[in-house]
Amino acid sequence: MALFGKKKIHPLSVDIHSHLIPNIDDGSQSMDQSINMIRELAALGINKVVTTPHIHPRYPNTPEVIMIGLKRLQEELKRCDVEMEVEAAAEYYVDENFIAKVKARDTLLSFGDNMILVEAPFQNKPIYFESAMFDLMAIGLQPVLAHPERYQFLEGSINWLEELKEIGVMFQITLGSIGGYYGAVPQKLGKYLIKLGLVDFLGSDLHRQAHIPFMKKGLESSEIQKLIKNGSLKNQELL
Ligand SMILES: [Fe+2]
Repeated sequence: MALFGKKKIHPLSVDIHSHLIPNIDDGSQSMDQSINMIRELAALGINKVVTTPHIHPRYPNTPEVIMIGLKRLQEELKRCDVEMEVEAAAEYYVDENFIAKVKARDTLLSFGDNMILVEAPFQNKPIYFESAMFDLMAIGLQPVLAHPERYQFLEGSINWLEELKEIGVMFQITLGSIGGYYGAVPQKLGKYLIKLGLVDFLGSDLHRQAHIPFMKKGLESSEIQKLIKNGSLKNQELL
């Protein structure tokens, strides 16, 4: 979209959470699906995508696998004339394996200014999570917690999230949560975190086509619109 020779900047501008490299996790299951979803993001006006495949016991991806997949995706986007800048990082599941990688100074995939997307288990409150966050910060990485609104073990309490905020963890809310895809609790908690001013980033966490209408609904909600307008989001800083 050219405007006086400059690309128009979408208020969300950079999506920092998605699963768009085909066949390496529970996200896109084919190159066609990936291309179609990225076309939709482009049609929404999003300027750049940092796609974040899982690195998780169920999806033990490596930086090499992700970078090879990214290259293939970029080539296919070019071939299909889809104008979208796509980079890759990862969504790291914080477990003993991850902590060992941090301590061993293994290569970790980050985005922006040394930011790293991390997730916790959904059902059980993780142990060693806070110390893992300290370990990351000690080696100059800024942890960004994926979808804090979706952790079921919180049972409506935000104490754990407040503790993480206090030690310097940033939060990424998923648009589909606000759009109602994951039910009433994440929707309510997401809106509450926005109200408290605890949200640093928005993300799509796009896995499949079915997420897109909920992502759009989230984007259109008054809470997200207000958040975008108040200028506190860091998505644009990644352009
Ligand atoms: Fe994700």
